Amino acid sequence: MAEDRDSGNMIEILIRARYPLVYVVSFEEGRVDRRLRGMTDARRKQLFTWTITNGLELQDGSFITELKDPIKVLEYILQSDANALFVLRDYHHYLNDPVVVRKLRDVAHALKITRKNIIFLSPVLKVPTELEKEIAVIDYQLPDKQELCAIVKKITASLDGAEKLDVLQAPEKLDKIVEAALGLTAEEAENVFAKSLVQKGQFDIGIVLSEKEQIIRKSGVLEYYHANEKMKEVGGLDELKTWLVKRGKAFTPKAREFGLSEPRGILLLGIPGCGKSLTAKAIAGMWQLPLLKLDVGKVFSSYVGSSEENVRRANLPKGAAPTAL
Ligand SMILES: Nc1ncnc2c1ncn2[C@@H]1O[C@H](COP(=O)(O)OP(=O)(O)OP(=O)(O)O)[C@@H](O)[C@H]1O
Ligand SMILES: [Mg+2]
Repeated sequence: MAEDRDSGNMIEILIRARYPLVYVVSFEEGRVDRRLRGMTDARRKQLFTWTITNGLELQDGSFITELKDPIKVLEYILQSDANALFVLRDYHHYLNDPVVVRKLRDVAHALKITRKNIIFLSPVLKVPTELEKEIAVIDYQLPDKQELCAIVKKITASLDGAEKLDVLQAPEKLDKIVEAALGLTAEEAENVFAKSLVQKGQFDIGIVLSEKEQIIRKSGVLEYYHANEKMKEVGGLDELKTWLVKRGKAFTPKAREFGLSEPRGILLLGIPGCGKSLTAKAIAGMWQLPLLKLDVGKVFSSYVGSSEENVRRANLPKGAAPTAL
C-alpha cells in the first residue's frame, strides 16, 4: 500500500494538522488502537480511550469511571491540559442527541487551538448534518496483502513442522491464500487460517473462501455465487477471451515485480441474454477468484439500512473479487 494512502498515515496527518474531530470507521478496534499507540508514542502524546462501560481509560491503564456519561467526557476533554488523543469508541449512538451535537460543536471550536484531538472509532458511520463540516472521516483500510502475508508468517513461525506447509514451499500458493483472504479483518483472517490448519493441516483456499462467504452473507448486500461455469461454455466473444487470458497473468507475483497493475474492472455492455452474466461467472472460474453479486435492489431497500452505508459496506479492497450486477 502506497504510503500516502495508508489510513494510519492519513490519521497522523490530520492529527498533526490539528483536526479536532476525526471519525475512523472500522470494526478492528485492536488493530486501529495499535496503530494509534505507535503514533502517540512516537509523538510523545498521551492516548485516552473512552467506552460507555468503563468510562475513560488513562495512559497508565487506570479508569475514571465517573466519566461514563457522553457529555461529561467531553467536558473533561475541554478542561484537560494534556497533549493527548481521546479515542471515543461507539460514540455514534449519541450523535443524534441535540445536546451532544451542540457540545461537540463547541468542543471542535475550542480544540482547534490545543494539542488535543478526538477520534471517534466505530464500525458504523453516522455524522449528523450539523457536524459535517467539523468531522473528518477515514475509512480504515482492511489488511492488505502485505499484512495478510505477515499474519501467515506469524502463524507458521509458531508452528512445529511448519517447513512442510505448501505456503512456505511455493510463493504462488502463499499469494493465492493471501488473495483469498483479502476483505477479511486481521482477526477474521487469523481465525480462518488457524481453522484451516486444524482441519486440513494446510492453508486451504476452499476453507478461507467458505469463511469469507459466511462473512459476506452477514453484510446483507453482497451475495456469494458459486461459479462452476467454464470459459469454453461461452460461445464467441473471442476478443474478450484473448484479453482475459492476457490480463489474467497480471495477478501473478511475477507481474507485480514487473510493475504491472492488477485489472480493476471490466464493463460488459450488451443486449439482454447475450452472455454478460455467464461471462462474469466464467471469469471467476478462470481467475480462481470468488464471484460476488451486488444486488442493486437490496442496496436501495430501506429495510437493510441507508443506501450510502450499504455501498460503503460492499466496498472491497482492489483485486478482491469480480462483482456481477
Ligand atoms: N455467448 C454465449 N455463449 C453461450 N451461451 C450463451 C451466450 N450468451 C447467452 N448464452 C445463454 O443465454 C443465457 C442467458 O445469458 P446471460 O444470463 O449471461 O445473459 P445476460 O447478458 O447477462 O443478460 P441480461 O442482460 O438479461 O442480464 C445463459 O445462461 C446462456 O445459457
Ligand atoms: Mg445478466
